[in-house]
Amino acid sequence: MPRLSVVGSERKSASERVDARLAGEEGRNLLRFLTCGSVDDGKSTLIGRLLYDSALVYEDQMRSAEHDSRRPGAGRGGTVDLAFLTDGLQAEREQKITIDVAYRYFSTPRRKFIVADTPGHVQYTRNMATGASNCDFAVLLVDARSGLLTQTRRHACILSLLGIAKIALAVNKMDLVDFDQARFEAIAEDFASFAGPLGFDLMTPIPLSALKGDNVINPSAHMHWYHGPTLLGHLETVDTPRGEGGRPFRFPVQWVNRPHLDFRGYAGTVASGKIKCGDEVVIHPSGRHAHVARIVTAGGDLESAQEGDAVTLTFAEEVDVSRGDIIALPASAPSIADQIAARLIWFDEEPMLPGRAYTLKCGCQTTTATVSSLKYKLNVDNLDHVAGKTLELNEAGSCNLSIAKALAFDPYAENTDTGSFILIDRFTNATVAAGMIEFGLRRATNIQWQELFIDKAARAGLKEQKPCVLWFTGLSGAGKSTIANTLEKRLHAMGRHTYMLDGDNVRHGLNKDLGFTDVDRVENIRRVAETAKLFVDAGLIVMVSFISPFRSERRMARDLFQDGEFIEVFVDTPIEVCEARDPKGLYRKARAGLITNFTGIDSLYEPPENAELKIDTSEGTVEAVAEAVLKELRRRHVV
Ligand code: ADX
Repeated sequence: MPRLSVVGSERKSASERVDARLAGEEGRNLLRFLTCGSVDDGKSTLIGRLLYDSALVYEDQMRSAEHDSRRPGAGRGGTVDLAFLTDGLQAEREQKITIDVAYRYFSTPRRKFIVADTPGHVQYTRNMATGASNCDFAVLLVDARSGLLTQTRRHACILSLLGIAKIALAVNKMDLVDFDQARFEAIAEDFASFAGPLGFDLMTPIPLSALKGDNVINPSAHMHWYHGPTLLGHLETVDTPRGEGGRPFRFPVQWVNRPHLDFRGYAGTVASGKIKCGDEVVIHPSGRHAHVARIVTAGGDLESAQEGDAVTLTFAEEVDVSRGDIIALPASAPSIADQIAARLIWFDEEPMLPGRAYTLKCGCQTTTATVSSLKYKLNVDNLDHVAGKTLELNEAGSCNLSIAKALAFDPYAENTDTGSFILIDRFTNATVAAGMIEFGLRRATNIQWQELFIDKAARAGLKEQKPCVLWFTGLSGAGKSTIANTLEKRLHAMGRHTYMLDGDNVRHGLNKDLGFTDVDRVENIRRVAETAKLFVDAGLIVMVSFISPFRSERRMARDLFQDGEFIEVFVDTPIEVCEARDPKGLYRKARAGLITNFTGIDSLYEPPENAELKIDTSEGTVEAVAEAVLKELRRRHVV
């Protein structure tokens, strides 16, 4: 999978890099787990306790923790504030919230551990999922006084969505409820009945006090009624599926290694299964066959490679393999589809917009994808499926996605590495969602392109013109339609074949079901862009006059056309001028609160950064402006 930590705001210290190396050497005996739960449930203290009591705290960290906990206002109890051992940044300490994933390494004679201390604050679900994506096991903390909170349930849902099968429910702060057995059992039962449908293979409730050390490493002297394992005892013995055989061979190609002309290898890490020299393989999505000639590593050639091995494969045949391809055995092909059903966890402050194009990264494959429909949202409090149009920050749901090019993948339930992806905003570069593929949709393979005898060039040739789209964007009242209208009149008089798509008009027919929410505007622009593409395909010069307020959708529109066909015209009239003109009286109504989501007032307009033409309507008449656009068209040899 695209390890979320790679793109998340992970910070790694030098000691953590050393830890990662050590862990690599002992891979088979390693447990990666995360701690999660609501704010103040005591995650950092618990990790501190594990590190401190297992006597493996780094000397320098200890000294600094002792120093810090002597400061005024420090100290959440005890002589050493254990949370200081794990809370890294000054800002986090001040906020008393861990705002990033901190990885720690410790070991006991029985096992080595990497623990991801993930934040519990409501805004930081992204980091929690980032931590979870690398882990085999989770410790979900609950404060014995407050019991399950929405955040506890949400984290349990995310753990299950991310495919973590085994968890411990650490009922913490038992000292503050007088080590009450009934309280512990009530919380454990509450959780068992909530989490039943989440399908965990193992849920182990453990009563403990991270602060006092009860049942963390040593059995508590205060809870004789409890006969289960201590937390560390459980961590040392729990079985996790990582590294188990049985899954089909998958090798996502990370890069093509061609140091000199005689050598061409494909480098990557075996995501699952095994391969040996001489095996016949299939390269997906192209479907070409080849035989493994060599398995090369820095330490020499191998006869075979298995899950987790970083190797370079070479083939006996000359085949075309590129970054992102998945190499598999002939008997067990991954799925290939450009339409998929997937569960999404939304990470961004900006809600998910169906119809918007996002960058999709699945393993080493990068393409664009749009959410074509949200099937349902998950209510994290009761796991109900709820109808909805969009996902907000921290929400999860099930969607259909349409992908720009065919993707090779496995369902997440079968392979978390090749079955997960992330979505990235194309402008801010923020990771906006994590996705888990449920299945490919058949539809993609059943609809093919119909070959046509007459094409765009033939249609345009008959009209003796070069088809294109002039995309006018700007605020309401900026003058887009007036300019486009005048321009069309001029082109018509010159014998050009044109068509005009105007926002107000199209909203009376094709788009009459759409309003002015962000979601509806995205769909509005998607439809008009597709329509413009059809008209350009018909050989026409098309004028589109829509506010089209968002950069993402204007870019989506641009991407539908060939180079030079899409001419963006920014009608850059300042809002004060538009408002003073107010040709339809809409600004007045919007100011009076009679219209909501009005562009420029309570809805965003993102000005173009690289429009082909920018027009200032305060200078010159409409005729003069239309003439300027014509001049640009001549310069581009459109007319
Ligand atoms: S777009 O934002 O989705 O591109 P579009 O160009 O189709 O908008 O429609 C804009 C026209 O709808 C405006 O020129 C105006 O006449 C009208 N309108 C009605 N309500 C709004 C609103 N809330 N925001 C902007 N325009 C509105």
